[in-house]
Amino acid sequence: MTKTTAAITAVGSYIPDFVLSNALLETMVDTNDEWITTRTGIKERRLLKDKDKGTSYLAIQAAKDLIEKKQLDPSEIDLVLIATATPDLAVASTAAYVASNIGATNAFSYDLQAACSSFLYGMSTASAYIESGRYKKVLLIGADKMSSIIDYTDRATCIIFGDGAGAVLFEPNTEGYGYQDEYLRTDGVGRDFLRIEAGGSLLPASEETVKNKQHYVYQDGKTVFKFAVSNMADAAAKIMERNKLTHDDVNWLVPHQANKRIIDATANRMDLAPEKVMMNIEHYGNTTSATLPLLLADYEQQLKKGDSLVFAAFGGGFTWGASYLTWAYDPS
Ligand code: UT7
Repeated sequence: MTKTTAAITAVGSYIPDFVLSNALLETMVDTNDEWITTRTGIKERRLLKDKDKGTSYLAIQAAKDLIEKKQLDPSEIDLVLIATATPDLAVASTAAYVASNIGATNAFSYDLQAACSSFLYGMSTASAYIESGRYKKVLLIGADKMSSIIDYTDRATCIIFGDGAGAVLFEPNTEGYGYQDEYLRTDGVGRDFLRIEAGGSLLPASEETVKNKQHYVYQDGKTVFKFAVSNMADAAAKIMERNKLTHDDVNWLVPHQANKRIIDATANRMDLAPEKVMMNIEHYGNTTSATLPLLLADYEQQLKKGDSLVFAAFGGGFTWGASYLTWAYDPS
C-alpha cells in the first residue's frame, strides 16, 4: 500500500498596512536605526492599528487569500488550526470564530499555543491528522497581533515584534512529498526569561497587575538569545543528520524570524549559502506564530516541486525544534 504523506498544497498571507519604521521608533523610545539594524536585522514592522480588530482579523485575511488562490471550497475543510500566542479572547476559541467566518462550515477548529514555536508544532499536528487518514484538508494558520501585548515604552521589546498572519493547507500526497521528519523539544526553565506575567491562572488580572505593566511581554533578551542560538542550530543540524541531508541536499532553510544573528548562526551550522536562507525579518520583524508561513508566502514563487525545506524555530517556554518537508508543487 502506498504511504500517505502530508503535503502543503497552498499558501496565503496577510500583513497590515501600518508601517512602524526604525525612524518612527526613534521618536518613541531611546533607540536608533543603527542599533536595531545591527543587533536584530529589523528595519520595519507592520501593525494592525484598528482598535476593534484582533488576531482573528489577521487570520481571516490570510485564510481568504489562500482560499482565493487555491479556488478552494471552504466547506471542504475538515479542520482549522490557529497557531497563536495572542488569541482574540482568553477563553473562546479564536479558531472557531475564524472557521465560521471563512465558511468552513463542516470543520472543527482549535487554537494551538507554543509561543514562537506555535506554527512549527502546528505543522506536526496538521501532518499527523493527514498521515493517519483521519482528515483530508487541514488549514493551519499562524497569526499574531503582537502589538496587543507590547509596551511601546519598553525599548527592549517594542523594536522586535510585528503583526501578521500566514496560512497553509495540508492535504494527503501519495508521491512521497510533504512532511518527512521532526525534532521538537521544550524546557520549562524558559518561562522565567520570556513571558507575560499576569492575566493567566497564576496571576489573574488586577488593578495592581495593570499598574505594574505585567500584561506586556517581558524578555531577558540576552539569555533567550543564548538558548535560541544553540538550540535552533542544534535542532536543524539534528534533522539534517537524521535524514542524511548534506548542505547540497537542502534547498531552503525556513527559520523563525526573531533575530538575523540567530538565523545566520543556524545557517552557518548547516553550512548553507545565504541565498538558501529565507528571510523577511527586515520588513516584518518578529511576528511570532506567523513568521514561518509568511516566509512560505513570500518565497512561494521560487519554490519547486521536490525542494527540500528545513524549518527551525525557538520561542517562549522554552519551545523549539526543526522539521523537514519536501515541497509538493511548482510555482504557478
Ligand atoms: O522569538 C522568540 C525568541 N526571542 C528571541 O530569540 C530574541 C533573542 N534575543 C535577542 O534577539 C537580543 O537579545 C535582543 C535583540 C533582544 C537584544 O540584543 P542584545 O545584543 O542581546 O542586547 P542587550 O540586551 O545585551 O543590550 C545591550 C545594550 C544594553 O546597554 P548596556 O547595558 O550595554 O549599556 C541595553 O540597555 O543595548 C541596550 N539596548 C538598546 N539600545 C538601543 C537594549 N535595547 C536597546 C534599544 N536601542 N532598543
